[in-house]
Amino acid sequence: MDIRGELELRIKTIDEALEKRLPKLENERAEIYDAMRYSLFAGGKRLRPMLMWEACGACGGSWEDVEPFACALEMIHTYSLIHDDLPAMDNDDLRRGLPTNHIKFGEAIAILAGDALLNKAFEIISSERYEYPERALKAIAVLAESSGTEGMIGGQVLDLESENRQISPEELKHIHRLKTGALIRAACIIGGIMAGADKSEINALDIYAENLGIAFQIQDDILDVTGSEEELGKPIGSDKESGKNTYVSLYGIEKAKQLMKEYSENAKEAVSALGDGAGFLTVLTEYLVNRRK
Ligand code: IPE
Ligand code: IPE
Ligand code: MG
Ligand code: MG
Ligand code: MG
Repeated sequence: MDIRGELELRIKTIDEALEKRLPKLENERAEIYDAMRYSLFAGGKRLRPMLMWEACGACGGSWEDVEPFACALEMIHTYSLIHDDLPAMDNDDLRRGLPTNHIKFGEAIAILAGDALLNKAFEIISSERYEYPERALKAIAVLAESSGTEGMIGGQVLDLESENRQISPEELKHIHRLKTGALIRAACIIGGIMAGADKSEINALDIYAENLGIAFQIQDDILDVTGSEEELGKPIGSDKESGKNTYVSLYGIEKAKQLMKEYSENAKEAVSALGDGAGFLTVLTEYLVNRRK
């Protein structure tokens, strides 16, 4: 399989949906729309919508079943990146190959653009007409919880609180599970929910996502040291500069790579329970842990 071609095809569908959900507007609030669209369309990997789509497919659903949630999740992820880059947080000036939102639009608009993407996400999923409204309600609750203090935001808080001090391996894993793992898990679980998956399918997706989320953030930590700014589209060495705890700072590169491999193997094993329909999730896992961006 030509994985790049497969990814491009999916990205095209996802980008078209996002364009429909957040069109350019020419009114007195044009600037906030420009700021939202600037980061949303700067060219991310669209990993979370893709995972949601594939998880849904593995359980018998289709892109149409998850499209509003996939767009909403990518908006929430993008908002988390805009805020993550702010001077008060990681203070980075490059994202997705472009100057960060606050460098381009100023801090106030960047904060508001993040807030607006979060609100747009919940507007989209709560105003849709669904064939199975009870599935959608469950999925909305999963998305809200995963994005909030029990998920991504909780992880971001712990990440900031642990700057410039030594933490234990368990604490670091906990931070990675929350700040990055929670949205990856939401992608997979929501895919399952919207497909009407049964308990054992959701459980397989859960274990898959849990392991993939940690593997993915370990690779992010490794790339912060071994990557190139051109390929990654974000600054190298940012973690060390901010005094972050990462898998590299705690274990060194080689051990970090080995742990990433273990988590990704666990992920692949979990998803194999879903049979042939989950084949692309396995391919995607392999691709993600070997990525350079
Ligand atoms: C970056 O996420 C932030 C992390 C949670 C590691 P991605 O690596 O998915 O970023 P984009 O969406 O491709 O820009
Ligand atoms: C990001 O972790 C997690 C979220 C944005 C929620 P990082 O701070 O490591 O992400 P990058 O490296 O800036 O993309
Ligand atoms: Mg950060
Ligand atoms: Mg960061
Ligand atoms: Mg990082």
